[in-house]
This record gives sequence, structure tokens and C-alpha cells, in this order.
Amino acid sequence: MNDAPRLVVESLTKTFAEGEREVSVLRGAALTASVGDSVAIMGPSGSGKSTLLHCVGTLEPPTTGTVMIDGADPFALSEPEIARFRNSTVGFVFQDHHLLPQYSVLENALLPTVAFRSANDSQDRARSLLDRVGLAHRLDHRPGELSGGERQRVAIARALINQPGLLLCDEPTGNLDGPTADSVADLLLELHAEADSVLLVVTHSEHLAARFARHVDLQDGKCVER
Ligand SMILES: Nc1ncnc2c1ncn2[C@@H]1O[C@H](COP(=O)(O)OP(=O)(O)O)[C@@H](O)[C@H]1O
Ligand SMILES: [Mg+2]
Repeated sequence: MNDAPRLVVESLTKTFAEGEREVSVLRGAALTASVGDSVAIMGPSGSGKSTLLHCVGTLEPPTTGTVMIDGADPFALSEPEIARFRNSTVGFVFQDHHLLPQYSVLENALLPTVAFRSANDSQDRARSLLDRVGLAHRLDHRPGELSGGERQRVAIARALINQPGLLLCDEPTGNLDGPTADSVADLLLELHAEADSVLLVVTHSEHLAARFARHVDLQDGKCVER
């Protein structure tokens, strides 16, 4: 076993061009997280929470600074290699479930396995994850036939299908009512604990954030640990 942190973000900056202007969203953000860590990321709307998650999840390259995941710099890779790295290393859950409406629950959970995986244990893993999130009886249903909470459960199963080391959630319960949000949060925390992952969750909810071991505020483009 090596005890090095799974995630090391250093001196991260991200600047967007807005017409003539440049907007500096991240201004030297730093964040370190080890296996087992669960971190709530908070901050006002527009403070750069999603941008941070996108950089950590290799969806967006930083302007300057580094993101190291298990000691590797994904942005040093070529585009196809980054895509493969992301697919095997990062699971995303967004506020909006982003399920494909024409596919069944089972097929949606399997989507991340289609591009790169040849292993045929994916089906078993998808069924067992969907069972774990309480949807064993819904495998053949379409997303349109599910409730909001059920759709987020499918999104969680899909995020975990490739056993990612990083689980990144952007306001995962933002569209759910209180009790449903609580049960989705329960699931996220349980599955994270079983998976030896790093869990980063962006949330506006102090109630949800209170359940996480660590709390980071985005302030002036930097991460401030509470
Ligand atoms: N792709 C983009 N192009 C231009 N500006 C962006 C882009 N993505 C985010 N921004 C700007 O960066 C700022 C932070 O956005 P975001 O990270 O989404 O904040 P949060 O998730 O905390 O609400 C906002 O001012 C937003 O308009
Ligand atoms: Mg956001």
C-alpha cells in the first residue's frame, strides 16, 4: 500500500475569456485528499465550484497549476489518453442526472463500460450496483419512468461502474426534496466508504455538508479548509 494522497491540486488557476475581458475563476487553489476522504465543497454561486470539479475530473485543463491523481498528471497525456484516464479513474454525478432517455436503467449504468472495457464482468457489476442502490426491480425501465431520486440512484451506479478512485458530485441532491436528498446522500456516503475512493461533493446545503468529514470553502478562487 502506498500512503501518498490520491489527489493533489496545487496552485490551480483557471481563467475564462468573456468577450474582451478575462475572468479569473480559480486563483491558486490547492487541495489534497486521500483515500477515504469525503469533502464537501461550498461557496456562493459563481465562486468556481463546478470549475474546480471539472479541472479535478480532467474535463477542463487548468490555465496554470497542477492536478495529480495517484501521482500522475493527467493533463500531460494526449487527448485520447486523457479520455481513457477519465473513464477509468473518475466517476461524475451531476445535479441533473444526464441519463440517456432511450436506454434502460441497466444500459445507462453500463454506458461508461462501452468505450474502453472489454471485460464481460460489467453486466454483473451493473446489476449488483443497481441492486445496491435499490433499483433491481427497475433494470428494464427507461429514465422517464423513474422518480427524480431513482434517476440519481442510476446516475450513482453509472458513476461507480468502473470503480473510479475519484467520485465527483456537483450538487447531486440539488433537484431533490429533503427526504429523497437524504437517502441519496446516505447512498453516496455508503458506497464511497465501500469503494476506497475520494469523494468530493459540491453542495449549497449545510445540512448535507455536515455529513462530510471535511469542508472546503471556495473563497476568491482559493480553497479554504474549515
Ligand atoms: N466555460 C466557461 N466560459 C466562460 N466563463 C465560465 C465558463 N465556465 C464557468 N465560467 C464562469 O466562471 C465562474 C464560476 O463558474 P462555476 O465554476 O460554474 O461556479 P459555481 O459552480 O461555483 O457556481 C462564473 O462566473 C462563470 O460564469
Ligand atoms: Mg456550479
